[in-house]
Amino acid sequence: MKKTLVAMMAALLCISLFAGCGGSAQEPAAAQENAGKEETENAAEENAGESEALADGILKVGTNAEFPPFEYVGDNGEPDGFDIALIKEIGKKLGVEVQVENMEFDALVASIGKKVDVAIAGMTVTDERKKTVDFSNPYYMAVQYVILPEGSGIAGAEDLSGKKIGVQLGTTGDFIAEEIENAEVSQYNKALDAVNDLINGRLDCVIVDKNPALVFETRFEGQVKAVDGDNFGFEPEEYAISLPKGDTVLAEKINAALQEMMEDGTFDALVAEYIEES
Ligand code: ARG
Repeated sequence: MKKTLVAMMAALLCISLFAGCGGSAQEPAAAQENAGKEETENAAEENAGESEALADGILKVGTNAEFPPFEYVGDNGEPDGFDIALIKEIGKKLGVEVQVENMEFDALVASIGKKVDVAIAGMTVTDERKKTVDFSNPYYMAVQYVILPEGSGIAGAEDLSGKKIGVQLGTTGDFIAEEIENAEVSQYNKALDAVNDLINGRLDCVIVDKNPALVFETRFEGQVKAVDGDNFGFEPEEYAISLPKGDTVLAEKINAALQEMMEDGTFDALVAEYIEES
């Protein structure tokens, strides 16, 4: 009853403000501002299908399953991990089927809006990436870590200059390494390959995000140690889902789903299951 009334008011408002309510992205925003929370839900209902990415009922999601615990190839050969579980939950809330496509990390940003609708890959929000894609609200805080061979004397930023550094191609760890004075940077498609080269003595260190670094430290216990990038002056980073530029309906829906999951405990349950137990 209340909802119908609000809808009628919104329709009236819409007619008086715009000759013909043709469906531009601005109208729902204007209606929301004027009519409050119920109207937000209502606008979302009316917008169903207006997101180009959701129009076919399938959310195609790009990832790079080389980044445990956020994404890795599970025992069944399919991508699994925190991000994959998160995007599947979001898909449920949006009422769409989620199809995950595993690809090179470096190819993800350029694939959004083309090969895939969105990407979830422990991807850090950066100004450079924002030129090509939009981001959801951030869902996780991270920082780069430095993986060292057990017994290494590297302890701070000044020790990194001139060193052989392994990174995953196109990651924020890669961008940091390229700024280090005289560093000899080797770019890998998989962080794991860099860690193997570290163990084989071909590298002095690997720069990779905190949680994967901790997973590798556990996996190669006694051979490598993972050191907090804070000791090297690395800045905190935020992970978000990357989205096609300008699909504001999709962004709103994904942000609303994330918010709901954070409020109802689903998000924390996934953190406990995938990240804290990793
Ligand atoms: N957070 C880093 C970045 O955005 C690394 C992400 C790597 N993710 C992956 N799935 N391989 O650049």
